[in-house]
Amino acid sequence: MTEKLSNDDKSNSSPSGRLGGVILSDKTIARIELLKSRFPEGKKKSALLTILHEVQDENNDWLSVEAMDKVAEVLGILPIEVYEVVSFYSMYNQKPVGKYVFEFCRTSCCVTRGAEDLMDYTCKKLGVEMGEVTADGLFQVKGVECLGACGYAPMLQLGDFYQEFLTPEKMDALIEDCKAGKIQKLSAV
Ligand code: FES
Repeated sequence: MTEKLSNDDKSNSSPSGRLGGVILSDKTIARIELLKSRFPEGKKKSALLTILHEVQDENNDWLSVEAMDKVAEVLGILPIEVYEVVSFYSMYNQKPVGKYVFEFCRTSCCVTRGAEDLMDYTCKKLGVEMGEVTADGLFQVKGVECLGACGYAPMLQLGDFYQEFLTPEKMDALIEDCKAGKIQKLSAV
């Protein structure tokens, strides 16, 4: 489990460091230094996953090449070591994302209970292909591997929250709630 800044921490931070469009606030820079200090020399790479979350959170939920290069620089590792981690995990984004990203589980339990049909239904309703962002920048549909909520299949992750036992009707309601600004993406902690 990686640690994240609380919403309060983020609201107190001011974007004060920029490198090629990468925003690193003083708060995040201090946080990165704290995370690095928890590991001995030669093992600083162990902080990589958490640092990537911090940098992604501060840069509109995605990691540009410049952002990944900056992370490599602060950790004293090669950029390729960052690229290979970012490209492996679906929780990191290499392109700008929609405001609301529906991350459907597409592993066996969820697929058995109709996840693929629900993904198709949602894409058609939103007028996008898998992975595309809607023209208004609001929505994106992705397929990800098992999210550990197999007993609640079919399900998806939206921000920090799970939506479970999905049906087309629940997707309709979820999309409307997002449009109405009723859905909170992040936890309060
Ligand atoms: S198979 Fe979907 S949450 Fe595990």
